[in-house]
Amino acid sequence: MAGAECVFWLVPPDPRAASVEAGYVDFARPACTALQRHGVKRVGGVSALGRGLSSKAGYVTASLAMDDLIASTGVAYRALAMPSFMDNLLRQVDAIVAAHPGMHGIALDVADPRAIDAFAGRVREQFPTLNVLFNNAGISRQEDLATDTLAVARSIIETNIVSVLHLTTALLTLLKEQPHATVLATTSGLAFMPRASYPTYCASKAFLHSWLQSLRRQLCDTSVEVLELIPPYVQTELIGPAQATDPRAVPLAKYIADVMPRLGASANEILVEEARELRWAEKTGIYGALFAARNARSDGPDRG
Ligand SMILES: NC(=O)c1ccc[n+]([C@@H]2O[C@H](COP(=O)([O-])OP(=O)(O)OC[C@H]3O[C@@H](n4cnc5c(N)ncnc54)[C@H](OP(=O)(O)O)[C@@H]3O)[C@@H](O)[C@H]2O)c1
Repeated sequence: MAGAECVFWLVPPDPRAASVEAGYVDFARPACTALQRHGVKRVGGVSALGRGLSSKAGYVTASLAMDDLIASTGVAYRALAMPSFMDNLLRQVDAIVAAHPGMHGIALDVADPRAIDAFAGRVREQFPTLNVLFNNAGISRQEDLATDTLAVARSIIETNIVSVLHLTTALLTLLKEQPHATVLATTSGLAFMPRASYPTYCASKAFLHSWLQSLRRQLCDTSVEVLELIPPYVQTELIGPAQATDPRAVPLAKYIADVMPRLGASANEILVEEARELRWAEKTGIYGALFAARNARSDGPDRG
């Protein structure tokens, strides 16, 4: 840092770090010494939203502790507070599994048909009593039907539809061998009321809603129940980092708290309060007006 007046500070992911604190705070310590030694005046960094959260908020807590450490050197420090981290959760599977005895993790790209076949074979061999399949993976992309190629639509159809059909049929024989089993798939309130800027995404969820009804009917004399999870707009990163803090979206913790008790109930559709209006718009006679209002150009930034 000799001769530097300003420094941009961005911590790289470190899968070998002993802890998130080690990855952020311990990593920043030698840099803080160097900042002081070389008289650096200004540092711009990248950390996280969430000051004031519990002291055990993982990456958030660690990156904010790093902010405090850098600021304590006396440099003029400004950090960009991001709503999310560019880190790959897949790398953490081993640590998560190790912390939860009985849990196993197998990575699967559901857009790869050969990988699905291999996965299903491995599951049948390693977990012959498997009794729940939760098809939750999904992608959502905006499309301009006048200008886009079909590439986006194809990838949505592969990920949101074909993979669910493939994985479910590949594991159905095994599920039917169990005394009680469940196939669950995530659709969306948008299955019942499209958002015009997400045409293929909404149609993919409408497809799944229809398909799940047929699957349920075909399996009605077996031990396999078929459930549909119908989320409203929730604070995840499905359409990008901004969604995670969009005040119009249901906070993730609230959504999870609302869904969990409903999983044990006998309804085929798991529907939280915020998704009801869309789910029943046709039946309650508000479909036309609601469709026009939700798809009006003045309705603000797009949401999935
Ligand atoms: N959040 C909402 O507002 C909302 C509303 C209605 C329905 N939903 C549905 O809820 C489900 C979960 O979405 P989310 O909101 O939790 O968003 P998310 O955080 O983006 O989760 C989507 C998940 O799908 C996985 N995925 C995508 N492509 C995959 C592939 N080819 N192979 C394996 N996994 C893949 C992603 O894994 P990687 O991160 O590794 O890519 C990610 O874990 C989706 O089906 C979505 O359509 C969400």
